[in-house]
Amino acid sequence: MASTIGMVLLMMIMVSLTSLASALSVNYYEHTCPQVESIVAGAVHKATMNDKTVPSALLRMHFHDCFVRGKNKAEKDGPPNISLHAFYVIDNAKKALEAVCPGVVSCADILALAARDAVTLSGGPNWEVPKGRKDGIISKATETRQLPAPTFNISQLQQSFSQRGLSLQDLVALSGGHTLGFAHCSSFQNRIHKFSPKQAVDPSLNPSFASNLQSKCHIKNKVKNSGSPLDSTATYFDNAYYKLLLQGKSILSSDQALLTHPTTKALVSKYAHSQMEFERAFVKSMIKMSSITNGGKQIRLQCNLVR
Ligand code: HEM
Ligand SMILES: *[C@@H]1O[C@H](CO)[C@@H](O)[C@H](O)[C@H]1NC(C)=O
Ligand SMILES: *[C@@H]1O[C@H](CO)[C@@H](O)[C@H](O)[C@H]1NC(C)=O
Repeated sequence: MASTIGMVLLMMIMVSLTSLASALSVNYYEHTCPQVESIVAGAVHKATMNDKTVPSALLRMHFHDCFVRGKNKAEKDGPPNISLHAFYVIDNAKKALEAVCPGVVSCADILALAARDAVTLSGGPNWEVPKGRKDGIISKATETRQLPAPTFNISQLQQSFSQRGLSLQDLVALSGGHTLGFAHCSSFQNRIHKFSPKQAVDPSLNPSFASNLQSKCHIKNKVKNSGSPLDSTATYFDNAYYKLLLQGKSILSSDQALLTHPTTKALVSKYAHSQMEFERAFVKSMIKMSSITNGGKQIRLQCNLVR
């Protein structure tokens, strides 16, 4: 009898220890690596001073890391064309961290911090990042179709997000990440060439905006890596993305899709009208997205890629 109670108690303790171990917390490295925040912020800041495209690349990398992690896949198995030109920032931060607290800070935590720093440095909100993620095991990139595609409609987007425990509100708030950065022509060509058998151009696009996109992406315009900024102030974190969306000036079909459902459309209007509401929602949803875990178990010693 006593030993049964003892067993039950032991099991309860073990269960609570396990859940403690998997819960993230803002002061996770308080004793083991108090320099983590300043080291990551320093690496992001230094790189951004030299290259204004670093913040958007870091934010997108973190999004992909969360979504791929949530599907039990290797974290760096992004889609084929994810721009990884800013990955050196994560590598640099990792090297600096290994020098002061070896084997302690996960790559996933570094990326989560770097994404937050990228937003703040771009004039966006600041917030405390819960930490304590573990890294998954690196495996070969095989399945890349699990990330939402820019051609997804609202039900496909909703499904992709809800599979990770994210709501329609999270979808709208996080799509606001497209206030930063750039899209290549291949990401929105579906809207400006052969949109449908009857229409070359997506009719939901503002016509002059559409012809501007067409000229940027003209077949004869062989500029390498041509494309378009995702909003009119692509290095500044603001709510212009939502304002432009309401004017038919979105870049991706998946952005436009937010206007095709009453819930998401109402949220787009809300964020277009209030930068403060947008920032509040964005922070809340970022914390939610960046807490997606898959029970990875290790602290990788190098964050670099398989490829
Ligand atoms: C809702 C589903 C989403 C889809 C379908 C999507 C798709 C895309 C695509 C196709 C690009 C352009 C890539 C290129 O042509 O190089 C892009 C860029 C970007 N995305 Fe998303 N995205 C989504 C959600 C998000 C979220 C949740 C975030 C972050 C909170 C985010 C942050 C970014 C950033 C910052 C860029 C610019 C990257 C750069 O300039 O290097 N996206 N996204
Ligand atoms: C990646 O880029 C290459 C070359 O630009 C292109 O041919 C390919 O279709 C792209 N793949 C995706 C999934 O966008
Ligand atoms: C979205 O696309 C899927 C797959 O093509 C289709 O089954 C679904 O009906 C579409 N939903 C909407 C709202 O258009």
